Amino acid sequence: MARGVRGPTRRDIIRSAAILPVVAQVRTRAPARAASLPVVIASANMKSPTESGGLNAVRKAWEILAAGGDPVDAVVSGVNLVENDPDDVTVGYGGIPNEEGVVQLDASVMDGRTMKAGAVGALERIKNPSKVARLVMERTNRVFVVGEGALKFAKAHGFAEENLLTERSRKIWLYWKEKLSGKDDWMPAGNEEEKDPDIRWYIEKYGVEDFRPQGTINCDAVTASGDIVGTTTTCGLFFKIPGRLGDSPVIGAGLYVDNDVGACGSTGWGEGNLRSCGSHTVVEMMRQGKSPEEAALKTLERIVAFAKDNRESSGRPKFQTVFYAVNKRGEYAGASVYDGAYGSTGRFSRAKFAVADSSGARLLETAYLFKKEKPSR
Ligand code: GLY
Repeated sequence: MARGVRGPTRRDIIRSAAILPVVAQVRTRAPARAASLPVVIASANMKSPTESGGLNAVRKAWEILAAGGDPVDAVVSGVNLVENDPDDVTVGYGGIPNEEGVVQLDASVMDGRTMKAGAVGALERIKNPSKVARLVMERTNRVFVVGEGALKFAKAHGFAEENLLTERSRKIWLYWKEKLSGKDDWMPAGNEEEKDPDIRWYIEKYGVEDFRPQGTINCDAVTASGDIVGTTTTCGLFFKIPGRLGDSPVIGAGLYVDNDVGACGSTGWGEGNLRSCGSHTVVEMMRQGKSPEEAALKTLERIVAFAKDNRESSGRPKFQTVFYAVNKRGEYAGASVYDGAYGSTGRFSRAKFAVADSSGARLLETAYLFKKEKPSR
C-alpha cells in the first residue's frame, strides 16, 4: 500500500517559502494511492478534452506486461501509438518543427534490469525515435547518438525515411514564422489565417500566452517481479533552434531508471530539467525514502527556486514541468508546477497523468505547487 499522505506541515510551508521568493505556492498533494504490480504510468498527452494519448499508451503497455511480454517492448509499443498519431503535435509524426520547418525528434530508453540506456537526438525523417533509442541501447555499446549519425544508424537498422511534417504542423509553423516580426520578409495573411481550422485548433489548445509549449510523452513500467523500465520521446520545444536538445533524450534529465529504486520521467520545460538532472534527482530522493510524490514535488521546488530567468514579473514560474515517478513497490505519482493551463477560450485543463494496473487504465490529477491564475482578457 502507498504510504499514508499527510497535508503540508508548517515546516514544509516555511521551508518552501524560504526557497521560493514567489507568491502563492499551494503545494497540493494527491490522495493516497494503492500500488499493484504490474503498473504503467505516462504523461496524459490530451488530444482533446476527452481523448488521451497517454491513456492509450499505458493501456497498450499494461496489456503486454499482463500477457508476460518484455517491459521494454511494452513501454516502447505504448509510446509508438502516440509517435504515430499526427493529432499529437508534440511527439513523432506531425510534431511541430524547428525554426526552419524541419521536424527533429529526441528520445531515450532505459532498462533497469541491465542499467543500460539508449538515446537519440535531433533525429530527422524517422517517426519512431523511441525504437531507434532502444536499438542504441541494445545493439551498440554506446548511449547517445545524434543528428546525421542517428539517421544513418536508423537506416542501417532498416528504418524508412519519411516526411514527418503534416499539413497541420506546416501551417502552424508558417503562422508562427509570419507573426514573428514586422522587420522581415514573411508577412502574416491577416485574420483569415486564424480562421483556418488547424491554426484555430492550435491557438485554442495552447493559447496565445504560451505559444511555444514543450510537450512530450514519458512512459514508465514496473513488472510483476519488480523490474523497472522507461522511455521518453518528443519533438522538443516548438520552433526550436535547429539541433537544440531538451531534457527528453538526456539520461538523468528526461528519464532515469534504477532497478533497486524506481523510475522517473518528465515533460515540460526541458532546460530547467536539464539544469536540475530532474529525473535522476527524483529517483535519488526515492532511494532516500521519499514517496514518488514527495520526491517529485521537492525536485519541482528546486527547479522553481533556481529558475530566476524563467519567471513572470509577479515572481511566479513562467513554465510548466511535470514529473511522473514510480517506485519498485508500484507506488506512483504525477506532480506538476501548475495545476493546469488555460486555453485561449478560457477553458481550464487540469494537469493529469495516465496509470494502468489491475484496476484498469485511468487519468488522475497531478499533485502541484501552484494554482494557475486565469489570464485577464
Ligand atoms: N521536455 C521537452 C523539451 O524540452 O524538449
